[in-house]
This record gives sequence, C-alpha cells and structure tokens, in this order.
Amino acid sequence: MNSVRQLVCSRWLPHVSKTLTGNPSVSRHGCRRRQLSTTSSNMTVMPAWVIDKYGGSDVLRFTKNASFPIIHYPNEVIVKVHAAALNPIDVSMRGGYGAATLSMKRDPLNINQTGSEFPLILGRDVSGVIMECGLDVKYFKEGDEVWAAIPPWKQGSLAEFVVLSANEVSQKPKSLSHTEAASIPYVACTAWSALVNTGGLTKENCTSKRILILGGSGGVGTFAIQMLKAWGAHVTVTCSQNAERLVRGLGADHVVDYTAGPVEVPLATLEKFDLILDNVGGATESWALGLLKPWCGAKYVTLVTPFLQNTDMLGIADGMLQTGVTVASKALKHLTKGVHYRWGFFAPSGPALDDISEMVDAGQIRAVVEEQFAFSQVPQAFQKVEKGHARGKTVVQISGGGGDDSQH
Ligand SMILES: NC(=O)c1ccc[n+]([C@@H]2O[C@H](COP(=O)([O-])OP(=O)(O)OC[C@H]3O[C@@H](n4cnc5c(N)ncnc54)[C@H](OP(=O)(O)O)[C@@H]3O)[C@@H](O)[C@H]2O)c1
Repeated sequence: MNSVRQLVCSRWLPHVSKTLTGNPSVSRHGCRRRQLSTTSSNMTVMPAWVIDKYGGSDVLRFTKNASFPIIHYPNEVIVKVHAAALNPIDVSMRGGYGAATLSMKRDPLNINQTGSEFPLILGRDVSGVIMECGLDVKYFKEGDEVWAAIPPWKQGSLAEFVVLSANEVSQKPKSLSHTEAASIPYVACTAWSALVNTGGLTKENCTSKRILILGGSGGVGTFAIQMLKAWGAHVTVTCSQNAERLVRGLGADHVVDYTAGPVEVPLATLEKFDLILDNVGGATESWALGLLKPWCGAKYVTLVTPFLQNTDMLGIADGMLQTGVTVASKALKHLTKGVHYRWGFFAPSGPALDDISEMVDAGQIRAVVEEQFAFSQVPQAFQKVEKGHARGKTVVQISGGGGDDSQH
C-alpha cells in the first residue's frame, strides 16, 4: 500500500509552475484540468487561536480572522480540523523554543522580516476531513477522514482548517472518533521515528527484545508501550506509582516507580536491555547506558536533546556545530563501551501513520485521552499540559463538537 502511495503523492514542482504560468485550465497534454486554487472565494478567513509574539499563557489570542490556508504545491491538501491535541512542544514553541531553526525552515533564504511567522498557529495533531486536494493528489479525495502530525514549521491545527502535504496525511482509523484519533499522530510519529528509524526496531525483529521506556505515562510513552507490545517486545517502564495501573493496562510487563528512590538502583538488578527509549532526559544519561547489553548492537535513544536550544542560543551555524560536536563525542564515548548513543526526533510521516492506523483498527493500539477541551478553552488546555504529570493526551475539539464521537 505504501509503495502505491509514494508514487501518487510525489511532489512535481515543474508541473505547478507550468499550470500557474500557462493557460491555467489546460495542461500541456491538452486535457482540461482543475485550476490550482484555494477554496471558494468567500472563505478568506477562519477562526483560530494564534500568538502574535512569544511568551506565556497571555499571548494566546482567539480570532475569527486568521488567514485561510492556501494550497501552494500540487501535492497539498486542506483539512477541515475536527480535533487537535496539545504536546509539550506547543507550550515550548509558545515561549519561542526552536524559533531560530523553525524560522530558517519556513524562510530558508531569509527574505522575510523578523517576526514574519506571526500570527502563528500552534497545535501539531489533527484529525479531520479533507476539504480540498491539490492537482497531484490522487491517494486522497475530498471528504476523506484523515489524521496527521503537522511539522512544527507549518501553521498548526488550533484552527478550523490546516494545509498539509499529502505525504504527511493518512486515512484516519475507522474505529476511532476524531477526538480519539487526534491524540495519536504526533506522539506516534515521534515514537516511530525514534524506535524504527533511529532504533532499528521492526515488527519482525522485536519479539525477543527487552525494551526499557523511561517515562512511560505521558503521550510518547503510552503510545510506545502499545506499539512495542503489539510487536511482541518485553517492555519495562518507569513512571510514578500512581501511573502504574495505566501503563500495565497498556501492556507494560514490568513497571518501576521512579518516585520511590533512585530509579537506576532497581533497574540495575534487571536483565540488561536491547533498547532504551528516554522520554525524561536530564541525569538519566549518566546511568541509563549502563543498563544496555554491551557489544550486541543495543541502543539508547533519547528524545530530550539540546538541538533546538543550541540553535536558539548560539544561532544556526554555531548551534548546529555545537550539536554535532556534542552528539558525536557522546556517541563515540559510548561506542567504546559497546553500546550505541542516539538522539531521536519527531518526523512527520503519512506512511508510518498508515501502518499505525491498521494497528489501531486491529485493536492493538488504543487512544489514551486524559482530558478534552472545547475550542473556546484552548488556554485552559495549555495550562493542563504546562502542569506536566500527563497521563496520556490532552485533546481540543475544534469543529463538530462531540457529535462525531457519538457514532463510536
Ligand atoms: N525530540 C523530539 O522530536 C521530541 C518529540 C516529542 C517529544 N519530545 C520530548 O519527549 C519527552 C516526552 O514527551 P511526551 O509528549 O510523552 O511528554 P508528556 O506527555 O508531558 O509526558 C511526560 C511523562 O513523563 C513522566 N515523568 C516525568 N518525570 C519522570 C521521570 N523522572 N521518570 C519517569 N517518568 C517521568 C510524567 O509524569 P509524572 O511527572 O507524573 O511522573 C509524564 O507522564 C518530552 O520531554 C518532550 O519534549 C521530543
């Protein structure tokens, strides 16, 4: 299925410019085709939560006049957002985290003035319905129910509509409501990128593996436990004592309470691990790599990295240099001890979500929605995420209210 998808979703820029500069409704093969358009002309604005500068909770502003998204490339789609979800990165981005790197990604030639990203729409998860497709989109059609994780350099989902590359979008699992579906894409794409792309795990090679998840009760952890259990791994999880029931319910085989004392002590008594996914960071690096099986290809993958912090503080060039030196020296140091040290990053991926959608519909993965908020309560949803101690995900219903959930 994915290979078909790759063929039909490929971006073909010369074709766009041809369509835009030539006769807009006739292709070079002579057949009439739909013009590259946005939406009906009366839809130029939409409701959204935006920020006009970086700061605390006071910078969030609701407007009915946010710019309506535009299809710029023929492989893009406009999605009507039914539900969105918040992640720790939304709180961080509201405060300016990653601004240097994300600005470069949005405007690589540095043509725009400083602050051109505003008004900025946050929200990295979306579940909704395709409203319009670009000329080259053949894998999706208008009316399809889809889900996606939105790259942080793009406008987010705390709005009525969002534009995405079709490569980032996937058919939503049929067994989930939009509210449930919105809780999964960003953490799923992060866990997939860390465990599969960086960690080298697959459905086929997981069966005999021992995996340790540091921080299992939040968004990434609750998803990763389920995916690894579906693939047959043995999963040990660290979390607070009051989250033990949750993570066991998701399939964790062994749970260690990190609040009961130095967590590395009970972990050191266990059989060593093939892979560690670190969602906690900080001091964990000083002891976690010692829990890996040496000289067996075992990997430590941390999601808590200084990459964006470095570029924010030092600028793009020096920040990247610093990042490269840090990761290379740590990787080398641990390689001499027979274990691999890696940084994991979120990567948007429609094809990964296709596979995850199948796992959800097969009953292998469920949504873990801790709390839902109405579109009018976005500031309260941010406060919830900011407090920490997540037990799954915080979701925001954007349109359709809770109505869509009643079907499920
Ligand atoms: N590199 C990337 O691209 C990327 C992408 C996504 C996420 N991340 C990062 O990955 C981390 C996890 O993300 P998330 O979305 O899962 O966050 P989250 O939903 O906020 O969950 C964090 C969880 O960790 C628990 N926790 C806190 N301290 C802990 C400790 N010392 N030991 C064990 N558990 C602990 C928290 O509960 P209690 O405090 O109640 O124990 C909470 O359940 C965050 O730091 C996030 O910024 C990075």
